[in-house]
Amino acid sequence: MSAGKFLATLGGTRFPTPPVWLMRQAGRYLPEYRAVRATTRSFLDFCYTPEKAVEVTLQPVRRFGLDAAIIFSDILVVPDALGQKVWFEEGEGPKLEPLTDPAQFGRLSRVRLIEHLAPVYRAIALARAALPQETALLGFAGAPFTLACYMIEGSGSRDFAKVKLWAYRHPDSFGLLIDLLAESVVDHLAYQVEAGADAVQLFDSWAGLLPEEQLFRWSLEPMVRIAQALKARHPMVPVIAFPRAVGPAALMYRRPDAFAALSIDTGIGAHWAAQELQPHICLQGNLDPMMLVAGGAAMKREARRILDKLAHGSFIFNLGHGVLQQTPPEHVAELVETVRQWTPSLA
Ligand code: CP3
Repeated sequence: MSAGKFLATLGGTRFPTPPVWLMRQAGRYLPEYRAVRATTRSFLDFCYTPEKAVEVTLQPVRRFGLDAAIIFSDILVVPDALGQKVWFEEGEGPKLEPLTDPAQFGRLSRVRLIEHLAPVYRAIALARAALPQETALLGFAGAPFTLACYMIEGSGSRDFAKVKLWAYRHPDSFGLLIDLLAESVVDHLAYQVEAGADAVQLFDSWAGLLPEEQLFRWSLEPMVRIAQALKARHPMVPVIAFPRAVGPAALMYRRPDAFAALSIDTGIGAHWAAQELQPHICLQGNLDPMMLVAGGAAMKREARRILDKLAHGSFIFNLGHGVLQQTPPEHVAELVETVRQWTPSLA
């Protein structure tokens, strides 16, 4: 039975061309997504309706024949399941009733986490059953630091001053929040694997805010702890780490004892990554999402440049961050074709 190119690559097998999928491959750039999305007002209700979540999970796989699907959900379902108020405002992104005092941590509880997130696990089981055997299904979660960013700021932010000042001034209480989130994320990922996810990705989208010692403490260490706790329950499941915008501190995330692959953002040079990271760990990335908006010759040239640097080693083609809303879907088809037609240059 074929495990599929994506999982085989994580397991160390090499193919003439790398597997390809895209972060945020399901979303508003697809008209068929907008059609299903329009049937539910609240974004969280949409995430918690398994039939709709499955449909939009499958859409990009049907259209583009990608090597992996990622379950349609959001990182903020975890704070929602812990009892924090979370909602999404049209055109403004996520809103949360912010945590302003450690005393409020007491209101958060893991007791109903799994019950609350049952629709996500149901969607995973349905999606796994509907996908072709050779297409991998990814589960995911936000890493504790990125979740804490939204939970303390109450939304996105320009400088994330509140969360950083809390971490720097009151590391003990910040540590309690990080630990609660780490334990919750382990449970959430373990249930996704039990429902049928073949691999999982941890998104630390705001890791790049932290200087290196703080990065080690609040991003890397909890992510390693999560991966190892998950492995204790599911030894075979690959974990992909995406610490966004950490620059050369990506060196710290070369941890094959925890992660099967490291997802690199656009700010990391493919040449440097091939020399410093790839000998130690499978890489995923890192086309600029704006190149996918641009399309045409510029996009193809850039995709081939990345392939020339990284596709000789253990590699999964992806973007450096999520697909942008203004992306023409035809450009995604062109990108997938460019990856599948790549041949190593003889130079
Ligand atoms: O296709 C996929 O990648 C699966 C689904 C997915 C979503 N969010 C759906 C979504 C995944 C993996 C995420 C992860 C996520 N969510 C992250 C980490 C990755 C990253 O982008 O850095 C973060 C930080 C969030 C939090 C979040 N959710 C934000 C900031 C927003 C607003 C952004 C926007 O484009 O409006 C969301 C909403 C959201 N999550 C949408 C989608 C498709 C758009 C809302 C809609 O369709 O109504």
